[in-house]
Amino acid sequence: MSQRDEPLTLLGDLTPAEFMAEYWQQKPLLIRGAFPDMLSPLDPDELAGLACEEGIEARLVEEHGPDGPWQVSHGPFDDATFEHLPEEKWSLLVQAVDHYVPSVAALMDEFDFLPCWRLDDIMISYAPPGGSVGPHIDQYDVFLLQASGQRRWQLGGKTADDAAIIPGIDLRILKDFEVEAGSDWVLEPGDMLYLPPGWAHHGVSQTDDCMTISVGFRAPSADEAVTSYADYLGEQLLPSQRYSDAAMAPADDASEIDDAALERMRQLILETLDNPTQLSQWFGRVMTQPKYVDQLVPHDPPLSVPELVAALQGDSPLYHAPGSRLAWRADGDTVTLFADGDGYPCSRELAQRLADPAPIHEDVLSLAGADALLTQLVNVGSLYWPQEEDDDE
Ligand code: SIN
Ligand code: CO
Repeated sequence: MSQRDEPLTLLGDLTPAEFMAEYWQQKPLLIRGAFPDMLSPLDPDELAGLACEEGIEARLVEEHGPDGPWQVSHGPFDDATFEHLPEEKWSLLVQAVDHYVPSVAALMDEFDFLPCWRLDDIMISYAPPGGSVGPHIDQYDVFLLQASGQRRWQLGGKTADDAAIIPGIDLRILKDFEVEAGSDWVLEPGDMLYLPPGWAHHGVSQTDDCMTISVGFRAPSADEAVTSYADYLGEQLLPSQRYSDAAMAPADDASEIDDAALERMRQLILETLDNPTQLSQWFGRVMTQPKYVDQLVPHDPPLSVPELVAALQGDSPLYHAPGSRLAWRADGDTVTLFADGDGYPCSRELAQRLADPAPIHEDVLSLAGADALLTQLVNVGSLYWPQEEDDDE
């Protein structure tokens, strides 16, 4: 029996194959006890500490803010911010906690039946009683895991992109939210709710220790994909590749744009876009783009290949840097390792080994080209030695 056919507690005893066939991107699933004996990886003070750090994306949502209803402010915050908050009805949300807290990043191992390049980030929220961000829809899949305290979740069904929102506030809160029958639950620590994109939801804290972990997935919109692919292709097209109309019929009416002209243009666009090699190279790059490009720390000064080899032989394994994104793809015999928005040709074995989040030991050096590729990846900041960072502190 393959691992994919084994029932998982995380999925309420469904197998990954059953979950993907029936729920993923299709309908919500409430899973009681998805993480038995759940212990929150952070407490509210630690989350507030992250929200005070420069470079960490954090938001505070106040239902009755000093300047009006549903006020949103953005971090970094300071102690005074938290001292002045009311006793209830606010939420603190911190993005990409997986980049800063290894035990949060490790949660992703539980979701390894999903491609890792679909993950966006792990967001954690804290809210006192009554705290929420209002009823809304998100355009991504999310697993909402209750880390501590209780949150009441109500769902309002699949909702159109253009559903009316409350005007004049900074949040996209639905104007009309009607709870669907059978979609009203209080989640306890370890319970988890899976939501597909476009599903109206409203989560309200019931306790003074309510923390919710959102494991969110990215999927580029058609708008983003077309723009980004066109930009990528555009850089490689020659000036001579352009609209052409050799042997066209003489114009009947010189000011008319006729069907034949439009068809020539359509063919140029379709032939240019329909390039499987370029599509593959673009897609690998776009899906491994880091969430925060400036969080990658290039090795300074850059390492030489012999220095890299010596360090790895000195029993210092390399790790994926926090927030780094790696994936690989084979186009026939041509294999590319994608790392943080770049592509590196290499062997399949090397690509698989480096894209795997397990620590990278000296034995990898037996693979052809490993020394040079590892050096490149350390120098751009995709791979790192954690103890080096500790030494710098
Ligand atoms: C929250 O954690 O407060 C909100 C999560 C969500 O609705 O997506
Ligand atoms: Co949401």
